[in-house]
Amino acid sequence: MNNQRTALVVGASGLVGGELLKVLLRDEAYTHVTALVRKPLAVQHPKLTQEVVDFANLSAVAAKITAQDIFCTLGTTIAKAGSQSAFRKVDYDYPLAVAEMALLRGAEQYLIVTAIGADARSAIFYSRTKGEVEHAIEALGYKTFVAFRPSFLAGDRPEMRLGETLGIGVAKFWSFAMIGPLAKYRVIDADVVASAMVLEAKRAVPGRRVIESDAIQALYDQAQR
Ligand SMILES: NC(=O)c1ccc[n+]([C@@H]2O[C@H](COP(=O)([O-])OP(=O)(O)OC[C@H]3O[C@@H](n4cnc5c(N)ncnc54)[C@H](OP(=O)(O)O)[C@@H]3O)[C@@H](O)[C@H]2O)c1
Repeated sequence: MNNQRTALVVGASGLVGGELLKVLLRDEAYTHVTALVRKPLAVQHPKLTQEVVDFANLSAVAAKITAQDIFCTLGTTIAKAGSQSAFRKVDYDYPLAVAEMALLRGAEQYLIVTAIGADARSAIFYSRTKGEVEHAIEALGYKTFVAFRPSFLAGDRPEMRLGETLGIGVAKFWSFAMIGPLAKYRVIDADVVASAMVLEAKRAVPGRRVIESDAIQALYDQAQR
């Protein structure tokens, strides 16, 4: 395992991205971490460089989009973004633009969180966009490309509404009944997804892989033993 890795995170202000940043900053295998953000993060660390960027104009900061391992946890919802095209910018255009620019500067691995049900042929716009972004980045030819497809995410989200909190509680309660093919629908903790991404990046196995939610959990559980 290479113990001198560099990482770039897009989405570090989010639920999974925030956990990912914590994991990367405490992992000795990573000597430097860059976070591309819209607003500065409160976190400070000697290994961390924050780049405040305009995602609509990434080519202006192309020289800063460089690291060995690129982690993408960007995402929004159609409701939050306001339209399907605004959603697609965040969940397709920006992850792809970062992937293209980083590859030109020598990036080796791209690890992205998409979602359960990602499928470029889906009739559902959300799932189709997630599937399409996987295909588009996979086709760029990274040495390693890994898509993580979590189920519903649990974690400390500042804007979490009561209904969501209760929903997660109920879903967690019923997790024991979700076995076999249903296991991938279990709620999964954001820090589990973040840790699994870093574990997978450090394995650095060349090729293209999709890791479903139950396999993300298994990867994490195995590493805890
Ligand atoms: N939530 C779930 O249950 C769930 C389930 C399965 C898959 N996923 C997927 O998993 C990934 C991570 O989810 P999450 O819950 O960690 O996301 P999150 O907490 O909502 O964070 C999203 C990230 O995307 C950034 N972002 C949003 N809109 C942006 C815009 N217009 N321009 C630039 N950056 C923007 C946010 O930055 P700002 O802080 O600057 O807004 C933030 O860093 C996403 O791709 C999501 O679709 C989520």
